Amino acid sequence: MKLIITKDYEEMSKTAAVIIAETVKTKPNCVLGFATGGTPIGTYKELIRYYKEEKLDFSLVKTFNLDEYFGLGMDLSKPYDKDQSYARFMQEELFDHINISKDNINIPYGLAKQPEKFCIDYENKIKKAGGIDLQLLGIGGNGHIAFNEPGSSLASRTRLQPLTKKTLKDNYESFFKKAGFNKEDMPCSALTMGVGTILEARHLLMLVSGKSKALTIKEAIEGCITSKITASAIQLHPGKVTVILDDDAASELSWSLDLV
Ligand code: F6R
Repeated sequence: MKLIITKDYEEMSKTAAVIIAETVKTKPNCVLGFATGGTPIGTYKELIRYYKEEKLDFSLVKTFNLDEYFGLGMDLSKPYDKDQSYARFMQEELFDHINISKDNINIPYGLAKQPEKFCIDYENKIKKAGGIDLQLLGIGGNGHIAFNEPGSSLASRTRLQPLTKKTLKDNYESFFKKAGFNKEDMPCSALTMGVGTILEARHLLMLVSGKSKALTIKEAIEGCITSKITASAIQLHPGKVTVILDDDAASELSWSLDLV
């Protein structure tokens, strides 16, 4: 596991974008796994800058997002409403601003009538694309990756997952409340890639920012591997794992140097 400690959110975001941009330059038809939430927004801004100013070409890139609220979603071929779906988030924060083909974007469809079948198909689609080259990850306040809430099997696959009170509270405060939604409007389950699915990506790139995540990330990377903190499963990854932290998020770690 390689740890990179950066001075602030901006430097964390730029460092992550360099790694993603290098992946795209080395393999123009790479498969990228994307995450939503507050943490990757700066990285997406930087990727847009790469596209606009340095002509980074996303035309052959395929993407798979980690998760989507069950009950929210959008058809990417149609104009979209101001909902709080992760599909809309990705359009607004990244996809609308780069030359990615809509046909190459995959996001769990929160309005799927047969969610179980959808999840099996999603897994098959990832396999058919040749697997994920680089998977971007954040970490939840309760240590989740994607929406693999505490207690999720570390071998889990893409599925419908109920959300814990902690995640509902965190995400209500960060997104739904700001957008003028009531608590009752927030979906309480989500379609999510499983921990097992995520571990199959060839490179895991986790971003962690802020004091509020400092103890959680310490437990995830220095503590025991446990389904109580599903992010700890990244310790099981046999290949490349990069964790980029800002100084606040790194404040509880035992190390202060880059580790390879
Ligand atoms: C979202 C996702 C989640 C978030 C996590 C952190 O696609 O996979 O695991 O990465 O909840 O969210 P933020 O970045 O908002 O703190």
